[in-house]
Amino acid sequence: MRRLLILLAGCGVLDASPLTLDNLPLGEEARPLLLRTYVPDPGLSKEVFAHHHDADSSPKYTPKTGRDIKGRYQPIPGIPAAVAVNHGPALSYAFDTTECRLLYAWQGGFLDMFPYWGDPDRGNRRSFGYVPSLVGTVFHQASGAPPLELDGRPVAELGDPDYLGYDLDEQGVPTFRYRFGEHRFSLRVAPLDDRPFSCRLTFRSESPGRLGYRGQEETVFDRGVLVVNLRGKALSEHSGFPRKMAIDRPTAAAGETLFANYGCIACHSTDGSDGHGPSLAGLFGKERPLTGGTTVKADDAYLRESIKDPNARTAEGFPPNYMPPYPLKDKEVESLVLFIKSLRDR
Ligand code: HEC
Repeated sequence: MRRLLILLAGCGVLDASPLTLDNLPLGEEARPLLLRTYVPDPGLSKEVFAHHHDADSSPKYTPKTGRDIKGRYQPIPGIPAAVAVNHGPALSYAFDTTECRLLYAWQGGFLDMFPYWGDPDRGNRRSFGYVPSLVGTVFHQASGAPPLELDGRPVAELGDPDYLGYDLDEQGVPTFRYRFGEHRFSLRVAPLDDRPFSCRLTFRSESPGRLGYRGQEETVFDRGVLVVNLRGKALSEHSGFPRKMAIDRPTAAAGETLFANYGCIACHSTDGSDGHGPSLAGLFGKERPLTGGTTVKADDAYLRESIKDPNARTAEGFPPNYMPPYPLKDKEVESLVLFIKSLRDR
């Protein structure tokens, strides 16, 4: 059996090992995870990519002779040179180092690296289009020219974007540094309160002048620092890369595999310890306290609902909108229910 060791490039968690076999890696709210990778395009408009070349195909070559051969390689359908950052289920975002701007932000998951890294046991990364898949709910997408303004002028008018790098603070939170023309800026992104679909952008400028942000009302500018509370709404939902799995009839064993494949395990332990979500050990049959003071019996119907429509009811002590919705087939849902029912209290 071949095991792939996977390196989290630019891993923000410096004291943890940068090697993982997990295709659904997650950072912590206070200690993010950085991944330099192709990021998927959730449907951004063309103007956002003003400085990306129009992704040309390139001639095929053979390493045997180092010569070009017949045929062309098509461009990979992902956004190159972006940095994807994850603060756990609270916030993920993609910063584009070509355009020097925030591309989009999402919540409730991060990236499914399966198409890119392959199966941890068998390898088999996709041979073409090996772009990670999104997990969670996209709540903000860039559009048009970069929204940052200096003294009322859009930064795009100051010159071309030029990426300078990022600094990590003690928690491993990145601050991206870049220029537009001769003017240097930096951006730091952070989760905002417990509110769903929001984040805080902090821009700094080394040039005198007032910073502004097009189209946002919640901004505060003081001494060269602009703080923008970005509030979005659910724009699209994503549940990772679909795994092929033929289920003839629902079983707990199939449920266990699905539980790992869909990354439920990133948020739910099966040993009683809490994580981003409640442990599912011994849940079945219990009275489950819900946000708002009511309780519900954790029976088949409740488990089914929790999986298919996670925001219908919220388990007490946990935030809403963290669990991504999964478009699962009935046999998959039933298998997951059987698996969760099989988890004894610990
Ligand atoms: C990004 C984190 C995350 C992922 C991934 C996730 N969940 Fe959840 N889940 C939560 C949170 C947070 C809650 C509690 C809030 C709520 O009820 O919505 C929850 C609640 C539940 C509950 C109800 C638990 C209870 O104690 O009442 C079940 C059952 C559940 N999830 C199953 C699953 C399954 C099955 C998957 C994978 C297909 C999954 N979850 C993936 C975060 C996650």
